[in-house]
Amino acid sequence: MNETVETTPSHMEPEVTEKSRLRRRARLPMKATKCQKGFEESLKYEENVEESQELGAHDVLVELHAASLNYRELAIANVENGPAGTIVPDVVPGSDGAGVVKSVGSGVTAFKEGDRVITHLAPGVVESDGDEAPPAYANIAAGLGQAIDGTLRSEGIFTEAALVHAPESLGWLQAATLTCSGLTAWNSLFGLKGRAVGPGDWVLVQGTGGVSIAALQFAVAAGAVVVATTSTEEKAARLLALGAKHTINYQSNPDNWGQEARDLTPGGKGFDMVVDIGGNATLSQSLLAVRINGVVVAAGLSGGAAEPVPLLAALAHACIVRGLLLGSRSQLRDMVRFIDEKGIVPVVDDMVFELSQTKEAYKWLLERKHFSKVAIRIDH
Ligand SMILES: NC(=O)c1ccc[n+]([C@@H]2O[C@H](COP(=O)([O-])OP(=O)(O)OC[C@H]3O[C@@H](n4cnc5c(N)ncnc54)[C@H](OP(=O)(O)O)[C@@H]3O)[C@@H](O)[C@H]2O)c1
Repeated sequence: MNETVETTPSHMEPEVTEKSRLRRRARLPMKATKCQKGFEESLKYEENVEESQELGAHDVLVELHAASLNYRELAIANVENGPAGTIVPDVVPGSDGAGVVKSVGSGVTAFKEGDRVITHLAPGVVESDGDEAPPAYANIAAGLGQAIDGTLRSEGIFTEAALVHAPESLGWLQAATLTCSGLTAWNSLFGLKGRAVGPGDWVLVQGTGGVSIAALQFAVAAGAVVVATTSTEEKAARLLALGAKHTINYQSNPDNWGQEARDLTPGGKGFDMVVDIGGNATLSQSLLAVRINGVVVAAGLSGGAAEPVPLLAALAHACIVRGLLLGSRSQLRDMVRFIDEKGIVPVVDDMVFELSQTKEAYKWLLERKHFSKVAIRIDH
């Protein structure tokens, strides 16, 4: 377990001498995937990318060994509705990554050469408000893979606020799944003070995407009873193998699977926590499933366009509806510790792509052929 605590005291930035600047120049060329507006036409894999960049005092040069994709990458690639905020032209996409530190800037104390690290998507919020601060939408829009070069490259310079130590127990592919969907799942289950999921709690997760599988794994490890929805029998079997107590096919009972799920809970009282990833397509069912004073986490909108669910529905169901974005860097570190303590191995889709196949990986995600995380191996 890494005992070092990463901090980013930007006000304490030491002077960087010209000599140290030269010594710490990044080693390039590298392999990278760039440019993502409409990925099918424009996403390009290049080798021998010549990019010479100095390492600032709080920068870390990381040799990346794996990355993974999120729905966010598709949104940034403008496949459906693009996200708010600027997309920097030619930005290297990807928020999730894992790799090894090659060198550090003169002010970096938390990381050293050889450390295994994973990325945090929103370093801006850490730099402005500290490790405990939850990112706002603007911090995410200003984050890795949208405004700052991300993880789909063989090496890159990251500000230290964009990194934490990787779980010691995980290989590169698994470690590279945690930045976005993993942290969102963690924050969903444990982020609301006084309402963290614990032994015996009933948790409902939806579908087999990255957020939901991570939530299932974390909740099971915390001793909760998990019910999972999905659309196929084959995926249901995999959910049971991961520790779900029951599964429900949401497509065979589209108008009442929330009640069907609720009926599985003791006395039909409902779930302590529902991690909703479907948005308007699922929220009304999530409200049917949650117990009085239980929590519905509004984490995503994978279900697509549907009749908006009014906020006042929370009154009728007497529950807490909690919207959240990602999580703080401090939560990311807590999650890493939990993964090592509990021996959790994040689930990676059977189909693993090479960096040169990033376009195919995007397509795999877009066509929803994946189970849990779409991972990309970065060979050197
Ligand atoms: N709030 C945040 O900070 C945050 C962070 C990360 C992700 N998100 C959001 O969370 C959502 C999930 O992300 P992800 O990366 O896990 O997505 P994903 O991997 O793309 O998840 C896709 C899966 O969602 C399931 N699904 C789709 N429609 C459903 C419905 N109506 N009911 C139940 N399940 C449904 C399907 O599961 P089956 O194939 O099993 O049916 C599908 O395979 C996305 O909307 C994403 O934008 C939010």
